[in-house]
Amino acid sequence: MNRINMFISFEGIDGCGKTTQIKMLEEYLSREKIEFISLREPGGTEFSELIREILLSKKNKLNGISELFLFEAARSDLTEKVIVPALEAGKVVLCDRFYDSTFAYQGFGRKIDLEAIKNCNFLAAHGYTTSVTFYLSISRSLSSERTSGKELDRMESSGNEFFERVIEGFEFLSETEPDRFIKLDGGESKEQIHQRIVDIINSKLNHDKVK
Ligand code: TMP
Repeated sequence: MNRINMFISFEGIDGCGKTTQIKMLEEYLSREKIEFISLREPGGTEFSELIREILLSKKNKLNGISELFLFEAARSDLTEKVIVPALEAGKVVLCDRFYDSTFAYQGFGRKIDLEAIKNCNFLAAHGYTTSVTFYLSISRSLSSERTSGKELDRMESSGNEFFERVIEGFEFLSETEPDRFIKLDGGESKEQIHQRIVDIINSKLNHDKVK
């Protein structure tokens, strides 16, 4: 097995195609015999999965700050127990969402102070950053179309204006951190997007080799 220490996350609003792309990348890494683990946020540990249930259940009425701390608590547990050990063991870590979701959803979506969010993210990620984040960009209308008929959870029931702000948050990240937070057109075919992702990962690996 080949060992590469790389932390890759995927971001975007519901229906953007993250799940499909993660699955395609998992298959690629398996074919290349590269060791990896695949996680989702919030989740990935017993504690974080419990927090996920609280966060997504429509029974719970939470204010934005409580929501923020619950996402961060789930992240801190997952990072300490699973992500850091995997990176230290030389594995690729794939994560369906990470702290950029907090920046976009709680920062832009719930309008919580962005500097406070950055500080909370830094603490909860134990100072770790993603090597690369793939943002699959789609419009709110395409998201609604792709998820129509699905029963909405607490976060998904936040309304159009909220999601327009979340998109603004993701766009802001792609403009301010273009080397790490890479915007891809979620409207392209899944094969085209997958090829772009593989090309970017390989170019980052080659770049790291010559450094
Ligand atoms: P998922 O449905 O993609 O698994 O993500 C769970 C939901 O939680 C999704 O609506 C996005 C939201 N979320 C936040 O609001 N903040 C965060 O920090 C994370 C990780 C997810």
